[in-house]
Amino acid sequence: MSNFIPYIIPLLLLPLFLYFISFLRRKSSGNLPPGSNGYPIIGENMAFVLSGPQKFIKDRMEKYSPEAFQTSLLGETMAIFCGPQGNKFLFMNDNKLFTSWWPKSLKKALLSPAYSDRDLKELTAVRHTFHHEILKPEALKQYIPVMDALAREHLDQFWKPNSVVKVFPLAKRYTFDLVCRLFLSLVDQNEIKRLSDPFSLVVGGIFSLPLDLPGMAYNSAVKGGKMVREELMRIIRERRKEMMEKKEMEGRDLLSKMLLVRYENGEYLSEVEISNNIIGLLVASFETTSSAVTAVINYLAELPHIYEEVFKEQMNIAKSKGPDEHLTWEDIEKMKYSWNMVRESLRLMPPAQGAFSEAITEFTYAGFTIPRGWKAFWNVHSSHKNPKYFPEPEKFDPSRFEGRGPPPYSFVPFGGGPRMCPGKEYARLEVLVFMHNVVKRFKLEKTIPSEKIVFQNSPTPVHGLPVHLYPHEK
Ligand code: HEM
Repeated sequence: MSNFIPYIIPLLLLPLFLYFISFLRRKSSGNLPPGSNGYPIIGENMAFVLSGPQKFIKDRMEKYSPEAFQTSLLGETMAIFCGPQGNKFLFMNDNKLFTSWWPKSLKKALLSPAYSDRDLKELTAVRHTFHHEILKPEALKQYIPVMDALAREHLDQFWKPNSVVKVFPLAKRYTFDLVCRLFLSLVDQNEIKRLSDPFSLVVGGIFSLPLDLPGMAYNSAVKGGKMVREELMRIIRERRKEMMEKKEMEGRDLLSKMLLVRYENGEYLSEVEISNNIIGLLVASFETTSSAVTAVINYLAELPHIYEEVFKEQMNIAKSKGPDEHLTWEDIEKMKYSWNMVRESLRLMPPAQGAFSEAITEFTYAGFTIPRGWKAFWNVHSSHKNPKYFPEPEKFDPSRFEGRGPPPYSFVPFGGGPRMCPGKEYARLEVLVFMHNVVKRFKLEKTIPSEKIVFQNSPTPVHGLPVHLYPHEK
């Protein structure tokens, strides 16, 4: 018995020690935001999925606080910041109080396990340089005729032969083909398919329950991610070889530009780093932009008076051009009503729900203490449908965006502050160009007038948004 005494004493003291630690933590954590962490391990994930982000957030703002509340999602204790003030606070304090954070499950599915240990800050700086390079106004101007030509091709091939089309899958196809053409110079459909098939597995499962077990959507996402990376690595190596043979020193697209970029010490980016960056860009742009196109077509097909206004504006532009002449930047600038219509669609059906970050220090917000290491989430839901900022919030009314528009930080489909979506202008062009081509050729009507919209990665019409097409020219 005496042999056990040295072990028994620490065991008896352990609960006391744990209590003391938790007391100290509570003391240092002050007044935490109100809320619930749900059940052990699963937290409030089920409630979030079952009620959808919009209702989940609205219910808790009413129950706990309209400013911030705590919850447990994705295995993390999290403060959800609400309303324009919450949005502004997170946007303005990026890199001061917060740093960006992504769930581990997402990184596992998307990024190569051989991801370099290179200082993340250095890599982020280089990534921002690409984003600036490929998304700057001069580059965007050159994308417009390509977007226009591809929209015409797609409408001829996939829309025109049918009297009914499913918009969401076709919008995804257009968005993916476009990104492949513009950023990787891929036009061959077989080559695109080798990327798009596994990529759809990725987007179908990255935000599902992160159980990497056979038969689970997350497991397919992990497998799909591996296949996308392998295919990208093949494309990158081939291009590197081609560039070396031709001594190509000008970046003709995103891929060539990435292959030419160097760190300050003169080293080129590794192929793994390039592949990770391209995947990041594909994920950020694909569902979001496809969902935005789908939302716009949804409202055009549902609201004839809105369609008429858009049609008038777009036909004035179409009539000012020859039939084979492509859209230009100047034409886009004339699409004022149409852009307000797109913004109203983004308000009511925001493709991105918000973004995560991690508190790098303890701080106070609205009287609540947010401990260091907690995750934070700003979101579109606490302001986009709030009657305080958008009277009659369920009404579709593009005129809200006329004049000074909505109050600052209340309309945030692209986020704000230093991390605001760098693809905002690209998305604007893609949606407007596609919309121009659709209304120029067809009048639309939903085949399922009250088709349910569910929140998966983005708002998703459960039947893919089937619409009747009525061509203007028979
Ligand atoms: C309607 C379409 C789109 C919406 C609604 C959207 C929305 C967003 C949002 C909310 C963020 C997070 C901002 C934050 O962290 O606070 C973001 C980040 C980002 N978006 Fe978009 N986006 C769209 C299209 C695009 C496109 C077309 C591209 C690229 C061509 C793109 C590239 C990115 C990238 C690279 C980031 C990460 C920026 C960073 O962390 O520094 N997005 N987007």
